[in-house]
Amino acid sequence: MDILPILLALLWTGAGALINLKYSVEEEQRAGTVIANIGKDAREAGFVLDPRQPAAFRVVSNSAPHLVDINPGSGLLVTKQKIDRDLLCRQSPKCVISLEVMSGSMEICVIKLEIKDLNDNAPSFPTDQIELEISETASPGTRVPLESAYDPDSGSFGVQSYELTPNDLFGLETKTRGDGSRFAELVVERSLDRETQSHYSYLLTALDGGDPPNFGTVELSIRVIDSNDNNPLFEEPAYAVSVPENAPPGTPLLRLNASDPDEGTNGQVLYSFHSYVSERARQLFHLDPQSGLLSVSGAVDYEEGHSYELDVQAKDLGPNSIPAHCKVTVSVQDANDNPPLINLLSVNSELVEVSESAPPGYVIALVRVSDRDSGANGRVQCKLLGSVPFRLQEYESFSTILVDGRLDREQRDQYNLTIQARDNGVPSLQATKSFTVKITDENDNHPHFSKPYYQVIVQENNTPGAYLLSVSARDPDLGLNGSVSYQIVPSQVRDMPVFTYVSINPNSGDIYALRSFNHEQTKAFEFKVLAKDGGNPSLQSNATIRVIVLDVNDNTPVITAPPLVNGTAEVYIPRNAGVGYLVTVIKADDYDEGENGRLSYEMADGDRGFFEIDQFNGEIRTTRAFGETAKTTYELIVVAHDHGKTSLSASALILIYLSPALDAQESIGSVNLSLIFIIALGSIAAILFVTMIFVAVKCKRDNKEIRTYNCRGKRHTSCISSFFQQVRSKGEKEA
Ligand SMILES: *[C@@H]1O[C@H](CO)[C@@H](O)[C@H](O)[C@H]1NC(C)=O
Ligand SMILES: *[C@@H]1O[C@H](CO)[C@@H](O)[C@H](O)[C@H]1NC(C)=O
Ligand SMILES: *[C@@H]1O[C@H](CO)[C@@H](O)[C@H](O)[C@H]1NC(C)=O
Repeated sequence: MDILPILLALLWTGAGALINLKYSVEEEQRAGTVIANIGKDAREAGFVLDPRQPAAFRVVSNSAPHLVDINPGSGLLVTKQKIDRDLLCRQSPKCVISLEVMSGSMEICVIKLEIKDLNDNAPSFPTDQIELEISETASPGTRVPLESAYDPDSGSFGVQSYELTPNDLFGLETKTRGDGSRFAELVVERSLDRETQSHYSYLLTALDGGDPPNFGTVELSIRVIDSNDNNPLFEEPAYAVSVPENAPPGTPLLRLNASDPDEGTNGQVLYSFHSYVSERARQLFHLDPQSGLLSVSGAVDYEEGHSYELDVQAKDLGPNSIPAHCKVTVSVQDANDNPPLINLLSVNSELVEVSESAPPGYVIALVRVSDRDSGANGRVQCKLLGSVPFRLQEYESFSTILVDGRLDREQRDQYNLTIQARDNGVPSLQATKSFTVKITDENDNHPHFSKPYYQVIVQENNTPGAYLLSVSARDPDLGLNGSVSYQIVPSQVRDMPVFTYVSINPNSGDIYALRSFNHEQTKAFEFKVLAKDGGNPSLQSNATIRVIVLDVNDNTPVITAPPLVNGTAEVYIPRNAGVGYLVTVIKADDYDEGENGRLSYEMADGDRGFFEIDQFNGEIRTTRAFGETAKTTYELIVVAHDHGKTSLSASALILIYLSPALDAQESIGSVNLSLIFIIALGSIAAILFVTMIFVAVKCKRDNKEIRTYNCRGKRHTSCISSFFQQVRSKGEKEA
């Protein structure tokens, strides 16, 4: 056995490769002979086969599936039966079996196995005996072609020469036909005399070129006849014609003309195929016995057979006729009758999945394109139709389809690729094949908030748990890669964790208040929300939320001046105070803001006829002079109210006393409380002094406790007011 693996080149890199492996083996090996270890040779040639995994070989094409096969597990190329090269390739000088094998999804081994010829056949003649009739008048030099022997071996192992034994009256000359086959011509060397010997018997031996040669013999029996007939004679010993395949039945190929100058039936020639013309050839071609016209009679298919050899004999109808022989070689010409065939090798069910991160040059599919025609008719060009981010690259009979651009599933998640194959025949034939490429997801998109900055305005005093706003971030990735969850980024608001202020629903992005906000404490605060996708690793982004707490009119104004006791203030003005005399200024505070805190003053009740109040600054002034007959005490109810939607207010009772002791000239135009104090205190001191003397004298006399009005420990105003209360009630009694 002679096996030699030859070469190989890695033709594409990345996800796949193509290598060529060449072997040769002699014919006639027994079934089961291991020719090669494809797995090992492929690995040595550069295939990256995972040694831990049994390589799975898949035969893509096999020109002789009945003879050789590849064990899918072991990768061994073995014979399935004895290979008879001569049956497989007949006379062709080279006999090659080709296989294409895939390992994995992208690796292809192209295997060429040459079957070497052995001289395992001997020449043989179609019949046991060749009977020949030769006219006794045949002159020396007359030649009669003999039936040839056949040796299925090719080249020098085929028939090379003929020998005739014994060798007395006749000579033998070996001649070569146009197709290289050899035949013998019998040459009459001496005059024949039927009366001397009418029958000769010889042994014709055909020898092949082996060492030692094989041979075959046939008995040649020659009868010498006393006829003056001329025998038919072909002009040429061999003819060659060609026919286009698919030529319709009846297409004439060749008119054979074996001439026979005899008259009548002796000159009428009948043509026929020789006995060993194959049955198939007889179906395809018709030879008209009378006219010698060779024509097409069946469907001639180049892919079935490239050429046919027809041995024809011509015989006249006269008695003792000696047939003439010639050989017609019909070669079939290829017509472009087979469209290209596109076979997606690495594609299951016409769907390829490829990740959107696949780089340019990544092989997504392997295609085998074949065309049963030969020559230009079988040369195929392939291309990918449409404008897609893929391209097709051709390698011998394979093509790869590679990524040729940027894939982005979020823009387009599916492509429909169509491969077009077109042969070079005239007119050319074409085929297309479509398949779908599905782009699979990668986590390549960050969640994207609908805005980078959200603002929500809430009124203070909200209920804890109140809904504030929703944020939303979109992530166009698929499944978990695109499912977004939200969380609040830890931070501090007024020294408290932000988590005590707000919470977020991780799924919906709804944000809730956790406490009741107080505008007077926190007018606004900011925090960040994080959106995270579920990829591994996950991608994230954030947005800022600003919460503005709006003021609500929740603070009631508080009257701060004049000082109130039980909601009442007492004010003294001179009895002679004129019109516009400033009685007092009402002041109030409101912690609210804006309208809610803007205050106005008015008089709600009381002796409004004598006084007026400035609604803006709270000044109370007299509107008329008090006559001699005027009351000594006036009452006013003063209200300070804010401008909130539902207004809040505070009120106070102002008691105004007309005091004869005060001089309007001194205090007109401005309120001078301290002056009033001084005056009041002065009066008190004077009265106290008088009273103490009076009491001291009386106590001394009655030995009783001194009763005095003690203001210590009380606020001055209330002390004074109590004091004047007494004075007033005393005065009223007097009045
Ligand atoms: C056959 O050949 C003979 C002699 O060469 C010629 O006279 C005759 O016309 C030919 N017949 C045909 C049909 O070609
Ligand atoms: C893909 O394109 C081919 C040719 O344009 C068409 O015949 C086929 O129906 C398409 N397939 C899909 C799934 O769009
Ligand atoms: C998410 O992305 C990863 C790679 O980033 C990928 O392996 C996975 O298949 C993707 N998930 C989906 C559901 O597409």
